[in-house]
Amino acid sequence: MKKFSIVIAGGGSTFTPGIVLMLLEHLDRFPIRQIKFYDNLEERQEKVAQACEILLKERAPEISFLATTDPETAFQDVDFVMAHIRVGLYAMREKDEKIPLKYGVVGQETCGPGGIAYGMRSIGGVLELVDYMEKYSPDAWMLNYSNPAAIVAEATRKLRPDAKIINICDMPVGIEERMAQAIGLASRKELVVRYYGLNHFGWWTDIRDKAGNDLLPQIQAHVAKYGYSLPEEIEASQHADASWMHTFAKAKEVYEVDPSTLPNTYLKYYFFPQDEVAHTNPSFTRANEVMAGREKHVFGECQRIVENQTATDTTLEVDEHASYIVDLARAIAYNTQERMLLIVPNEGAIVNFDEQAMVEVPCIVGSNGAEPITQGKIPRFQKGLMEQQVAVEKLVVEAWAEGSYQKLWQALILSKVVPNARVAKELLDELIEANQAFWPELH
Ligand code: NAD
Ligand code: G6P
Ligand code: MN
Repeated sequence: MKKFSIVIAGGGSTFTPGIVLMLLEHLDRFPIRQIKFYDNLEERQEKVAQACEILLKERAPEISFLATTDPETAFQDVDFVMAHIRVGLYAMREKDEKIPLKYGVVGQETCGPGGIAYGMRSIGGVLELVDYMEKYSPDAWMLNYSNPAAIVAEATRKLRPDAKIINICDMPVGIEERMAQAIGLASRKELVVRYYGLNHFGWWTDIRDKAGNDLLPQIQAHVAKYGYSLPEEIEASQHADASWMHTFAKAKEVYEVDPSTLPNTYLKYYFFPQDEVAHTNPSFTRANEVMAGREKHVFGECQRIVENQTATDTTLEVDEHASYIVDLARAIAYNTQERMLLIVPNEGAIVNFDEQAMVEVPCIVGSNGAEPITQGKIPRFQKGLMEQQVAVEKLVVEAWAEGSYQKLWQALILSKVVPNARVAKELLDELIEANQAFWPELH
């Protein structure tokens, strides 16, 4: 059986050790001969790489391993690029969150002005990865989960239309795991769903078990009472912090807006922005929480592994939740025709919506990539919201490509969480100042 070669781009990510452990758990389904790490920040990647090297030697010595900042070494001889980069690191995430809050506006990694600012940084980084892949391993596929996925996906659609890249988000996966648990099923894999939207901006319209029984009413009854909160919380979840618990509970109110569907958690930022601003501490945002929590834990553990020269007693955990990445890679490698929610060009999947929009819908995945499943026509409410949000995302990509100040200002004005054009301009000017090292020059 063929064994695959993988490069993890963003090797210094806090998610890298969990992904490596997850890949090791799935070797019987997805055999690997080589894992490479690529990052543009050697110092950060080294800490994770040294620990993962020890871990791999102990658990799968047959897999060859290297970590590099050299694109050619990283991208040659690979079948898959698994990309999770964060251009600007947590220092810039912190600004994405804190600058809008100064104006009483939602400060979030992927939504509103923070997401726009992060998008303007990420586009260039992700396009660079695509170009390295096409240069050194033209047959490879990139599985991208670098954020903000909506904007990054639109950029790759528009600027690298022929690239073999699939953009994917783990939020639907995480929510579906909760739905399954809420109604007593063993796994999200028992659910067959219909869903439409943009990334971090969508709705489930139908959920059945494999026999075809309608599960939607049961899940809706749970969400009407508890949101996506569970009586017994999922252990070892990526979404375990108090702020995530708040988000899952808040889904109860988000659900009330359209009780015929089930919402993505991220809609809370658009429906109840003032609630988010009110309960956020503007001097300790999610970036601070992540730095004090996940980053400290992962890097502390990596250091301990290196000091002890063993990972046998590590508290680093398998990110089982991330096994959707293996499902996606397998679907392409083995033509499994698995049904998965992906971010793809609409091209009629949502019948009454822009054909050229990047939408999140169920797809059948095989060796040719993703084939979207038609979701039919969507109601006026969702269509109106999505038209506005997709315009934001498209204007950001146009602003990046053309260096247009005007278009980026318009994107901010259109963002549902920004109150008016004046605040949008003040925000834009402050974001330009903060992002000088990362954004193209705007004129
Ligand atoms: P992190 O800062 O710990 O790691 C990101 C790494 O990327 C860093 O080591 C950084 O040096 C590296 N990097 C930055 N720019 C680069 C470039 N141009 N080329 C190569 N490497 C580069 O961040 P994290 O919190 O672990 O998150 C990583 C990414 O994964 C983020 O974009 C995050 O939003 C995303 N993410 C997405 C999902 C999803 O559902 N799509 C889920 C979890 C995380
Ligand atoms: C969810 C989203 C991701 C996002 C992550 C943020 O999983 O789908 O797109 O990156 O949450 O998590 P964090 O713990 O970094 O705030
Ligand atoms: Mn996501």
